[in-house]
Amino acid sequence: MSNKRKILIQLDTDLKASVFDAVVAIDAGVDHLLQYSNVKQEEVRSLVHGAMYTRGPQDLKHTAIFVGGSSVAHGEAVAMAAFETLHDPFRVSIMLDSNGSNSTAAAAVLCAQQHMEIRDSFSVVLAATGPVGQRVCRILANLGGKVFVGSRSQERAEETIDELVRANVERSRLIPLVSEDEAAVNGALIRSQAVFACGAAGIRLLTAQQLAAATSLRVAVDLNAVPPEGIEGIGAFDKAVERGNRIDYGALGVGGLKMKIHKASIAALFESNHRFLDCQEMLTIGTDILARQNGIW
Ligand SMILES: NC(=O)c1ccc[n+]([C@@H]2O[C@H](COP(=O)([O-])OP(=O)(O)OC[C@H]3O[C@@H](n4cnc5c(N)ncnc54)[C@H](OP(=O)(O)O)[C@@H]3O)[C@@H](O)[C@H]2O)c1
Repeated sequence: MSNKRKILIQLDTDLKASVFDAVVAIDAGVDHLLQYSNVKQEEVRSLVHGAMYTRGPQDLKHTAIFVGGSSVAHGEAVAMAAFETLHDPFRVSIMLDSNGSNSTAAAAVLCAQQHMEIRDSFSVVLAATGPVGQRVCRILANLGGKVFVGSRSQERAEETIDELVRANVERSRLIPLVSEDEAAVNGALIRSQAVFACGAAGIRLLTAQQLAAATSLRVAVDLNAVPPEGIEGIGAFDKAVERGNRIDYGALGVGGLKMKIHKASIAALFESNHRFLDCQEMLTIGTDILARQNGIW
C-alpha cells in the first residue's frame, strides 16, 4: 500500500490565492497544499510538468490540481491548459471551481430537485449571465428542463445562450429573458416550476408581489446572501421552508450542501489520477451525498 501524502496544487487566477479554497482543501483531507497565485494560461504547462514527472505513475493519484479564482473564464482556460498538458501515464486529476460556481450551481439545482422533477419543467434563472447562473442553466438544461435565461440585457442573455450551446447544451432548451421587462419576467414565472436568483451580492431581482403571483412555482432559490434579499421574503438561512405550495431556499440554506460537494469533490480527486471535475461531475457527487443522506444507499 502506498503511503504517499495527498498534495493539492492550487492554481488560482487571482493576485492572492483564495484562503477559502485553501481551508476547504485542508478540511477535505489534503496533507500538503501548494498555492500558486495570479496564474496565467501560458504558465500552466511548466507548473503541471512539476506535478506529472515527480512521483511515479502508480502514485500520481496522490497529487491533484484545483483551479480557482474569481474569474470563471480565466479558470476555464487554466484548467483546460492543465488538462491538455497531461498525457498517459502521467496524469493527475483536476477540479475547476472558480468563484465556487460549479459547487454552488450543483447544490442549488439539487436542492430544487428534491421537491420537483426537473425533466420537462420550466425554470427562470435570473442573472443567468454570471458564473453561478450560467452553470445553473447548464445543469437544468442537461437534466431535460427548459430554462429562461435572464439578464438585464437581451444581448448578454443571447451571448450566454451561445456559450451554453458551445458547452453542448441543446439550444432549444434555452429561452432568453430580459429581466428589465417586468411583464416578460412575470409571464415566464407563471409558466415555471422553479426560479433561481443568481444576481450579484446585494441586488434585489424579484419582489414579494411578483413571487406571490407566480402560482406555478414549486421551488424558489435565492443565492444572494447579502441584504437586501435577491428574492424579497426569502431569508438567507431558509432551507426547504414551505410557503404555501412553494419550497424556499436562501443562499446559506444551499451553502451547507455546496460545502459538502466542494469537500467531497476534493476527496474524489485522490481516488484516481484521471478525473476532470466540472459542474456535471460535481452534480453527480452531490447526488450521491443526498442519496447517502436520505438512506437510499
Ligand atoms: N451560497 C453560496 O454558497 C454561494 C457561492 C458562490 C456565490 N454565491 C452567490 O451567488 C450569486 C451569483 O454569483 P456570481 O459570481 O455568478 O455573481 P456575479 O457574477 O457577481 O453577478 C451575476 C449577475 O448579476 C447581474 N447583476 C450585476 N449587477 C447587477 C445590478 N446592479 N442589478 C441587477 N443585476 C445585476 C449581472 O447580470 P446581467 O448584467 O446579465 O443582468 C451579473 O452577470 C452571488 O450573489 C454570490 O454571492 C453564493
